[in-house]
Amino acid sequence: MLSKLVTRQVFNHGLRLTKRAASTAAQQKLVGDRNPQVNYRKLFINNEFVDAIAGNVFEVLNPATGDVIAEVADASEKDVDKAVKACKDAFRLGSEWRRMDPAARGDLLYKLADLFERDRAYLAALETVNNGKPFKDSYNIDIPHCIAVLRYYAGWPDKMNGKVLPISGDFFAYTRREPVGIVGQIIPWNFPLILLCWKIGPSVATGCTTVVKLDEHTPLTGLYVGKLIQEAGFPPGVINILSGDGPHCGASIVKHPDVNKIAFTGSTQVGKIIGGEAAKMVKRTTLELGGKSPNIVFADCNLDTAVEMSHFALFFNQGQCCCAGSRTYVEEKIYDEFVQRSVERAKRRKVGDPFDENTEQGPQISHEQMDKILDLIESGRRAGAKLLVGGQREGDKGFFVQPTVFSDVRDNHRIAREEIFGPVMQILKFKTIDEVIERANDTEYGLAASVFTNDLDKGIVVSNGLRAGSVWVNTYDNFDPVAPFGGFKQSGLGREKSEYSLDSYTEAKCVTMKISQRNS
Ligand code: NAI
Ligand code: MG
Repeated sequence: MLSKLVTRQVFNHGLRLTKRAASTAAQQKLVGDRNPQVNYRKLFINNEFVDAIAGNVFEVLNPATGDVIAEVADASEKDVDKAVKACKDAFRLGSEWRRMDPAARGDLLYKLADLFERDRAYLAALETVNNGKPFKDSYNIDIPHCIAVLRYYAGWPDKMNGKVLPISGDFFAYTRREPVGIVGQIIPWNFPLILLCWKIGPSVATGCTTVVKLDEHTPLTGLYVGKLIQEAGFPPGVINILSGDGPHCGASIVKHPDVNKIAFTGSTQVGKIIGGEAAKMVKRTTLELGGKSPNIVFADCNLDTAVEMSHFALFFNQGQCCCAGSRTYVEEKIYDEFVQRSVERAKRRKVGDPFDENTEQGPQISHEQMDKILDLIESGRRAGAKLLVGGQREGDKGFFVQPTVFSDVRDNHRIAREEIFGPVMQILKFKTIDEVIERANDTEYGLAASVFTNDLDKGIVVSNGLRAGSVWVNTYDNFDPVAPFGGFKQSGLGREKSEYSLDSYTEAKCVTMKISQRNS
């Protein structure tokens, strides 16, 4: 554990690094100079940084400025094939990876976590330059969470027991939990490093091998992790990391005949395509998709907490969370006061340079996402919801959107039904418990939900009634590694984190032996 003083020093070091990153030239320095071993124009295959076969590259931006900060390799089907071959070799029976003791797999994850800790400031700075999230958050939330997740999975390999079965007749039968094999993992841009760790953690813990596709907006930190994987001493081919687009690179991972399982996080739209393709080859699939999560505030709550946490539930990470609390249902008796306080809080939200220590909100990831958000805001206005604060782009450089609050939102408004993925809060009014549970569940999604009340009976009754994978009571976004995360309904399939995640990375094999003597 780092002392406060050291933490402060590392934080300042990160800030200095990132202050230098203010100009385009300096951003390129951050990407290029600090770690000459990492060439961001290469792919990480078989423990080596290699050129893409076709030699194509694409540009990566800093969303706070719109400047190009790097060119990265654009992996094609051929590169995917090469990475899958590396996975296959690493997974071959008798290979170093297959013969490795389970506890030794855990040690590799512990080592990787230590390297994340060592390079925390650099990783946080790079994540912020590429994703736009406040450095304060990258440094204090994202990287520590990555470390916790890697250490959580590091403890699993030697604890995944099989069972001895009480089988009938003269037999001895037991189960083994074997790795599902070669895994394809496709991640989005909102939490590039966290979601990378959510994916590689269970893959390594269970003894699979994997090819990861980073998001085309945010490939930099994932490529850097390639260097850390080399340094941690993973055998070649266990984790391969590609930068590439969705329709070519992502799709060829999904379709590759040697890939046994797909783990995807992203839009529901793409999740359905991937699920359909994978089903054709009976591939195992886990999908973490969209949400429109209800946040239910009862009159008997602690109002200060409820206002602050509801604000956090929606605005955290620029509103770019699949589990954002994006339908805020407030009981009639406190509705007006809650709305007024939420508007005041949104007005105080500090938007700007993600490297400023006081900044709470950075830019959206891209021009496209900013436009999508502004379009949904416009639809809310036209539908008759009351726009109380925000509603516009902030400035003309980078992709910033003002913190926005709507009241008087109706259940059928687009802003109450579609995922906005931006800093736009919808406040709706309700009267009774039964009514609010029914309205909260009236959605195709079911990722998360929350309840604010001081009556725990009510908290439990409402939690039990909500059709969502995570329900938080008097809190939001608790992401402890031991807690499963995933969706009901069209929010996805399967669970990530926690022991539940291990099921989808393993196959249960049952071995049954005839025994010649009768069981006593
Ligand atoms: P997306 O779903 O298109 O992209 C996510 C990942 O899937 C990226 O790595 C992308 O390259 C890959 N991908 C795209 N098409 C693919 C295909 N045909 N085959 C294989 N992989 C493919 O998400 P996008 O376009 O960046 O954002 C659109 C919306 O999705 C957002 O506005 C938001 O509502 C939602 N979203 C949800 C996320 C979540 O955490 N569940 C994360 C990112 C976006
Ligand atoms: Mg897309």
